[in-house]
Amino acid sequence: MRCGFIGYGNMGGAVVRALLGDGSLRESEVIVYNRTASRLESLRTCFPQVRIAGSMREAASNVDALFICVHTPVVPEVLSEIDGSVASGTHLVTINGGIGIADIESSYDGAVSKVIPSISIEVGRGFTLISHGRKVSGAQASALESLFSRSGRVKVLPEEKLGIATDLTSCGPGFMAEMIAQFALSGAKAGSIDDHEAIEMATETMLGTALMMADGRSSPDALAERVATKGGITEQGLLVLERDLPRVFDQMFEATRRKRGSVRTAMAGMSDH
Ligand SMILES: NC(=O)c1ccc[n+]([C@@H]2O[C@H](COP(=O)([O-])OP(=O)(O)OC[C@H]3O[C@@H](n4cnc5c(N)ncnc54)[C@H](OP(=O)(O)O)[C@@H]3O)[C@@H](O)[C@H]2O)c1
Repeated sequence: MRCGFIGYGNMGGAVVRALLGDGSLRESEVIVYNRTASRLESLRTCFPQVRIAGSMREAASNVDALFICVHTPVVPEVLSEIDGSVASGTHLVTINGGIGIADIESSYDGAVSKVIPSISIEVGRGFTLISHGRKVSGAQASALESLFSRSGRVKVLPEEKLGIATDLTSCGPGFMAEMIAQFALSGAKAGSIDDHEAIEMATETMLGTALMMADGRSSPDALAERVATKGGITEQGLLVLERDLPRVFDQMFEATRRKRGSVRTAMAGMSDH
């Protein structure tokens, strides 16, 4: 599957390296454009057969799928720049939560899907969320879904359900990193452990816990019950978390919902002009 990538930032880069690294794409199938060419140096070194495009239009032509991996407000600019150079039949894929498939379809006449990856694709774990637009054929949908199936799990959702799923899976690594940090730093403050040591302990514990729960091995309740002996120390800590965490997470999801809404409104305004 010939794939073009426009944008090689944190996410575009992680996706390209993951798909090449796990053999989902061959180097000869990939062409990448990034505005700042120096950002592509390490790609050149690790995957020398990957083609580096000199322009967005070059990356967009003669590919089966074109991934647009730039900041959300830049997507309309990219669409206007590549207009006329995308082969008919090319499957256009965006990775931005803040721009709707219908907005893209208003300036591109072919198949459009949205792929929301997670930075944890770098370690072959996590979920890649996919939504397909109305012009995506069954064959194009399967090709895109199977492309990501080696680098973690794939979940296909209707676009209107992507928002909250994105918070859980794609913003998730950021939230989990913060949770690990707060958990560890409070622990370090409460005892005589240095911050670095506490973060190391909390991270390994989070990883072990996640592995014990992964693939439906254990529910959160069942695992907590195995750790929290009746009348013991863990039970006291859990009572505090059960009392205070729901309010914190409700506020967090409300903040992301509000921000997503304002980005959507701004983007809808941009595509009207
Ligand atoms: N980070 C995540 O975990 C994540 C997860 C899912 C989706 N996303 C989506 O991915 C998008 C990119 O995020 P990121 O984390 O990859 O950001 P990033 O590391 O800052 O990369 C941004 C990319 O956009 C390009 N770009 C920015 N302005 C441009 C312009 N005016 N013309 C051409 N190219 C331009 C950058 O090129 P230069 O290198 O030249 O600056 C770079 O390739 C976000 O908007 C977000 O919606 C991110």
